[in-house]
Amino acid sequence: MTALKQSQRSSLYRVDPLRVEDGIPVFSAADRYTENYTQIAKDHIDRMSEDSANPWIPDELWQELEASTRALVRKYSRPGQKILDVGVSLARVIEQCPELDRYGIDISRAI
Ligand SMILES: C[S@@+](CC[C@H](N)C(=O)[O-])C[C@H]1O[C@@H](n2cnc3c(N)ncnc32)[C@H](O)[C@@H]1O
Repeated sequence: MTALKQSQRSSLYRVDPLRVEDGIPVFSAADRYTENYTQIAKDHIDRMSEDSANPWIPDELWQELEASTRALVRKYSRPGQKILDVGVSLARVIEQCPELDRYGIDISRAI
């Protein structure tokens, strides 16, 4: 399939969103997978608002994992390049990479 030019598409996206909620394009219908992640995100946010802790892993491990991901991003990117975090959640990794042109999507609208 050849890529369509922007002028040939009905929207900015290659596939039109199902709907737009609060300015956020929604591409997938709700199902058990999305509902599960919505609940996980709600639990996460609720817990973080209590004490800033990650409910599933110790803080030290969380920070270590994020630092190693940031190191990989820095190793394989150059300033000004675009990066898309699929599963961006609270954007904790890419928020620390201001040298990049950052984008994020997430299956959950709870975050
Ligand atoms: C561990 S968090 C990611 C943390 C994030 N990258 C950061 O830097 O803080 C995983 C995220 O992936 C999202 N997710 C899971 N499956 C997904 C999918 N199929 N498409 C998009 N996001 C997804 C979840 O909702 C969750 O917010």
